[in-house]
Amino acid sequence: MRVAEPQFAFLRELLRKRTGVVIDDSKQYLVIARMLPIVRQRKIPSIETLLDRVRQGTDPSLERDVLSAMMTHETSFFRDQKPFEALKSLIAELAVKRAAEKQLVFWSAASSTGQEAFSIAMLLNEHFRDLVASWRIRILATDYSDVVLARAREGTFSELEMARGLPPALKQKYFRSLQGRWSISQECRRLVEFRQLNLIGTWPLLPPCDVVFLRNVMLYFDVTTRQSLVKRVARAMRADGSLFLGGAETMIGIDDGWQRHTVAGASFYRVKR
Ligand SMILES: C[S@@+](CC[C@H](N)C(=O)[O-])C[C@H]1O[C@@H](n2cnc3c(N)ncnc32)[C@H](O)[C@@H]1O
Repeated sequence: MRVAEPQFAFLRELLRKRTGVVIDDSKQYLVIARMLPIVRQRKIPSIETLLDRVRQGTDPSLERDVLSAMMTHETSFFRDQKPFEALKSLIAELAVKRAAEKQLVFWSAASSTGQEAFSIAMLLNEHFRDLVASWRIRILATDYSDVVLARAREGTFSELEMARGLPPALKQKYFRSLQGRWSISQECRRLVEFRQLNLIGTWPLLPPCDVVFLRNVMLYFDVTTRQSLVKRVARAMRADGSLFLGGAETMIGIDDGWQRHTVAGASFYRVKR
């Protein structure tokens, strides 16, 4: 089974233009796997008809659903673990550096279903209770996809999602079982604000960020998009802010204005002074 070439080419170009996500010619199978559920759910006769309707542009929600379905939303609690150990050290430092202003801003910049942001919230509750109790702490969690944001806002996770990366003690402490799923506690939930934000679109005004997690999203963008994105991220950060990328992502060949640091076996970047 193949998607007709004009519709395939249209989707590739739309995805790149609207979201920065690049797929190559070999991704026919991906388009089929991701479009079939939409075609079935909306009772549309074929993938080509679906993509023609997106092209006509009469239903903006259809375009959003199609583009969102083409993205990879893979995530897990405490993904890769070491960045969260490094984050713990950074927060201990920030507790001293920001003692006068008593506020911290974290940004999970491609948050998917929320596990990254909730991991930061658990880490704060677990190790920095005093800050959580008396400082203004914000964890902004943004994504392009309304579909994953709706799930993130719900704050409930399946048994399988819980089994990926979440230590049993934290499951016990910060979740309760709710109708076959696991619901995150209010003390974590209240720290996180979910918002729609397209990393290659216009951004709402963001507070200056102390720590940015921009993980496992740049790898879907071309080099030019990565270059302009990290420049914008630098402007959204405090001068001494820290930026975490995904395990397979790097600043090498993207922007030499960043200094790489390693703490607790994890790398992060700060803008060179
Ligand atoms: C693989 S997930 C990464 C989730 C999390 N950061 C992690 O590392 O576990 C990538 C996320 O990036 C989002 N994304 C892709 N393109 C985007 C864009 N242009 N703006 C905002 N989010 C985007 C997708 O919707 C997806 O949820």
